[in-house]
Amino acid sequence: MAKKRISIIHGPNLNLLGQREPEVYGKTSLAEINELIQSEAAKLDLTVEIFQSNSEAEIVNHIHQLKAGFVVINPAAFTHTSVAIRDAFSGVKIPFIEVHISNVFARESFRKESFFSDIAVAVISGLGAEGYLAALRFAAK
Ligand code: DQA
Repeated sequence: MAKKRISIIHGPNLNLLGQREPEVYGKTSLAEINELIQSEAAKLDLTVEIFQSNSEAEIVNHIHQLKAGFVVINPAAFTHTSVAIRDAFSGVKIPFIEVHISNVFARESFRKESFFSDIAVAVISGLGAEGYLAALRFAAK
């Protein structure tokens, strides 16, 4: 049987993980998180493709051409601003889990608002890199 395809999308500024506000986001770099994701995917027999962009338009275009059956996305700051990325998910009808490294509910009040949570399968917030792996384990089922 063909392996399940999962798409991981990292939003803006997540390329700076490791150096960016380590007291909030930890010291693990995006490359290290991506390695953890690929090694979990291998254990779960999943094909995972990973995409990071700081551009809203690039993320919308990326979602439009996805072949994956499931998406794990950390929309980062676009969580709180992007009707366009939300509409892209509604348009392609691919189920997704919203992941945040930090616990957004324990931070500034504007971070409690999300354009994604009500149409997401689930939201994982505050588990660090482990949140991506938990989402993958769910997607594998
Ligand atoms: C984040 C939380 C967002 O509020 C913030 O803008 C980010 C990262 C997280 O992973 O905790 O860039 O999505």
